[in-house]
Amino acid sequence: MASVLSLAATVHQRLADALSAALPEAGAADPLLRRSDRADFQANGMLALAKKLKGNPRELAAKVVESLPAGELIAGIEVSGPGFLNITVSDEAIVKTLAARAADARLGVPYAESPGTTVVDYAQPNVAKEMHVGHLRSAVIGDAVVRILEFAGEKVVRRHHIGDWGTQFGMLIQYLLEHPHELDHKAATVDQGAGDDKDLAASGEEAMSNLNRLYKAARALFDSDEEFKERSRRRVVDLQAGDEETIALWRKFVEESKIYFYSVFDKLDMDIRDPDVVGESGYNDMLAETCRLLEESGVAVRSEGALCVFFDDVKGPDGNLVPLIVQKSDGGFGYAATDLSAIRDRVQNLQADSLVYVVDARQSLHFKMVFETARRIGWLNEKTHAYQLAFGTVLGKDGKPFKTREGETVRLVDLLDEAIERATAVVREKSENLGLTEEEITERGAQVGIGAVKYADLSTSAARDYKFDLDQMVSLNGDTSVYLQYAYARIQSILRRADESQKPVAHPELPLAPAERALGLHLDQFAEILREVAAGYEPHKLAAYLYQLASFYTTFYDKCPVLKAEGGPAQVENRLFLCDLTARTLHQGMDLLGIRTPERL
Ligand code: ARG
Repeated sequence: MASVLSLAATVHQRLADALSAALPEAGAADPLLRRSDRADFQANGMLALAKKLKGNPRELAAKVVESLPAGELIAGIEVSGPGFLNITVSDEAIVKTLAARAADARLGVPYAESPGTTVVDYAQPNVAKEMHVGHLRSAVIGDAVVRILEFAGEKVVRRHHIGDWGTQFGMLIQYLLEHPHELDHKAATVDQGAGDDKDLAASGEEAMSNLNRLYKAARALFDSDEEFKERSRRRVVDLQAGDEETIALWRKFVEESKIYFYSVFDKLDMDIRDPDVVGESGYNDMLAETCRLLEESGVAVRSEGALCVFFDDVKGPDGNLVPLIVQKSDGGFGYAATDLSAIRDRVQNLQADSLVYVVDARQSLHFKMVFETARRIGWLNEKTHAYQLAFGTVLGKDGKPFKTREGETVRLVDLLDEAIERATAVVREKSENLGLTEEEITERGAQVGIGAVKYADLSTSAARDYKFDLDQMVSLNGDTSVYLQYAYARIQSILRRADESQKPVAHPELPLAPAERALGLHLDQFAEILREVAAGYEPHKLAAYLYQLASFYTTFYDKCPVLKAEGGPAQVENRLFLCDLTARTLHQGMDLLGIRTPERL
């Protein structure tokens, strides 16, 4: 055993290495080491290996036990069942290994071995339209994925593919042209750059209400006035032709919408940067060429005037093939042409090797066809992958798609405000004896409320539908962010209460209580969980890990007094060490989910 532990080493890894070394004939065979209830770990790899070597698994396992070098790592090992190994590691090994990782700012989490470039397509609302819960999911999941990948060392390019192009702009622009003051602001805060959050929220609200009013008025006129309808149609042609005046007005809609989007993202405590907002219009210059390349290569064919790609397994209810339409028969380009052009841009210009789309599962057929088309023409291949991180529908408490009582889509801002309001009430009640100022209560309320919304979304696997239940989300008990935030704050309060002589210091020589071992072994898994979470784009596994961590900590806290530890000053230090590492792990993990951990709550 090397005397200096690598920072990245875990007890798990050290044990796996020792097992492999004990059986040279195994070559690179995986010892299949897992955490287990019977002992600390169980290794099942001897079964498959015995089969391969045509030996007896129990004998093979016994041989491993014999040839394991004596050392501080293993406290007990026995062969069980058909040839499993049940292994108990020493308390010393647990604390020593954790101490080495605690010495690292990254908590011993290694960078990915061969990082690449990933484009994450997320947080993509539509111009002149209200944001809804679907946009919330994309933003929350996407933000977590970006943070997780970046922490793993991946180069990440963010793309907010906002819906900023299409025929609906003809009507809007025409109306604005005929009613030029409709987008003027009452509040003068907008152009003054970053005011405080309240200003931002107010300008956002005003922008959206202007857009809503204008949209309704334009729509009404469009439906009732044939001449206006005709003028609107001609306006679409002007827009597509790049007519200057038309484009200037179109830009006003985009800018106005961005004021609103940014106010919502700000409320979500999310850092969305302007250069990363490359909406559908950003690919306009590529559309004609994309179609030409698809047609020349034969990947797309003309059918009834439209440019189409066909798939054997995509059929409509009548049994006829349903194609992906890249160009309509009137020459117009749609959503598919834009997404195919975006793939070209991301692969060829941004040099991405992975493309991740955080988009509603109801768009899965679109992406399946778009990806397959890109594969056929070679824009995607073995080296460049595309993956739709498809998410399910947000449901109301009744299990039906989330709507207001009147059957309308719920405004995202209203939801977030309600979450913040409820969380603030919880914080106010809990924090009475903490003496928080009103300002602190407001700040914590927002951190807890927004954290609750994000966590509820991130703690179920993305593909599943989930119920939006605010009562459950801000509950102090159960699998909620509030529970995790309180666990973190409780540790901070212990660390604050420790006196000068009581510091977090690891003491590997001390025996551990069962609750300390359980906590320590769970802490040991952090790096491994993160690797898995990054590889599969699965933030919910990180959420589950953190929830378990908080639960292990709660048991530890109930069973093991920290500042008044019965074993004397060294035990106080060792327990403070476990507290501190737990807090840092919670903080790091929550940060990767985009959730704040207030120091005092
Ligand atoms: N704006 C779209 C919507 O609201 C989502 C865009 C998804 N991204 C993409 N590359 N198509 O549904």
